[in-house]
Amino acid sequence: MSRPTVVCILGTRPDAIKMMPVVLELKRRSDEVNCVVLSTGQHREMLEQVFQTFGVQPDEDLGLMKHGQGLAELTGRSLIGLDEAIGRHKPDWVIAQGDTTTTFTASLAAFYQKAKFGHVEAGLRTGDIFNPFPEEFNRVASAIIAEHHFAPTQWAADNLIREGRDASKIFVTGNTGIDAVMRVAQDEEQTWLPDHEGRVILLTTHRRENWGEPQRGIAEACLQLVNENPDCRLVVPMHRNPVVRETLEGVLAGKDRVELIEPPEYAKFVKLMQRSDLILTDSGGVQEEAPSFGIPVLVLRETTERPEGVDVGCAKLIGTDKARILSEARLLLGDSSAYDSMAKTASPYGDGAAASQICDLILGSV
Ligand code: UD1
Ligand code: UDP
Repeated sequence: MSRPTVVCILGTRPDAIKMMPVVLELKRRSDEVNCVVLSTGQHREMLEQVFQTFGVQPDEDLGLMKHGQGLAELTGRSLIGLDEAIGRHKPDWVIAQGDTTTTFTASLAAFYQKAKFGHVEAGLRTGDIFNPFPEEFNRVASAIIAEHHFAPTQWAADNLIREGRDASKIFVTGNTGIDAVMRVAQDEEQTWLPDHEGRVILLTTHRRENWGEPQRGIAEACLQLVNENPDCRLVVPMHRNPVVRETLEGVLAGKDRVELIEPPEYAKFVKLMQRSDLILTDSGGVQEEAPSFGIPVLVLRETTERPEGVDVGCAKLIGTDKARILSEARLLLGDSSAYDSMAKTASPYGDGAAASQICDLILGSV
């Protein structure tokens, strides 16, 4: 009997990081399954870094990244390219993760080609279709199409059940991002900031809802924190998006004890997180990963689809108001009991075994 084909689709940095554990597990079982990795190339440099970290290259790459490209153009080109590729491979399953344009178009192309779609990191919701934009729509739309929903937590599974999805097709697996972070954290050779004795504040921000004024306020608040705390260094890996870089550079370039850096490849970024004392971020993945290392996270967003970390107390949702950012960060930098109560809270996002469960479920239903 011929092996089933599973097409894994990814295109952005977080897609790739969170799909890599699944891809590696499918490749490990290559006597049972033919795993094809299809990249839309929605991202370029930031995606290539992930392939190098995990030693995997895509079998095909649509090369879609274009500076200044709007969402409609990206969506259209991605859908056409993926539809053609899925049609050619005729897979038993198409798998994609999360809420990016790549994920949404992967699910729609799978639907048009009548291939079963498995949604990794299913069920995250804010309940506000404009926040995060356009990701909340992307994940709701992908769920309509999905044959299997791999929910990272029970909360995410409950969201799907509330929306009327078939409970027998929803599986709580943990988050594959935790599989990925645990794997690369074992790399002892990576170091970061070995010459800095003091504290490190790490900032990442890229979300579309925060572009412009909110992002400027975030940067200004972080600069003020560094000025108030002479032992602190602020490290800011800048997303490659030119809109984001212009704002961050405008406020932070050339400032004392501020390092604006190119996005480090994943294994180095993980070391940087481990070396950090406080993380401020609007990233989805970073807010899930930081609690694995006991680093408090201040989430720079008005809503989060990851309330589990906030509920248990390892993350705080603080929005983008400058005064609020300052007061929350000052509390953590100045009060060790407030700091410890966040740092000592266990992560709710998984135990590192999500990918093997997902592969069992996929291969059990071909
Ligand atoms: C995308 C996802 C977002 C995810 C984020 C992770 C959508 C709609 N958004 O947002 O959900 O959180 O990725 O990073 O899918 N660029 C480069 N090199 C790269 C990557 C990006 O130069 O390696 C620049 C390009 O000019 C590109 C722009 O950044 O056009 C924006 O990329 P895009 O994928 O549209 O959106 P993100 O804001 O990165
Ligand atoms: N990350 C990275 N280098 C960086 C910043 C982030 O490797 O400079 C990793 C991070 O550890 C996480 C993922 O990228 O796994 C998150 O990606 P991003 O913040 O771009 O997207 P989101 O998770 O918000 O969709």
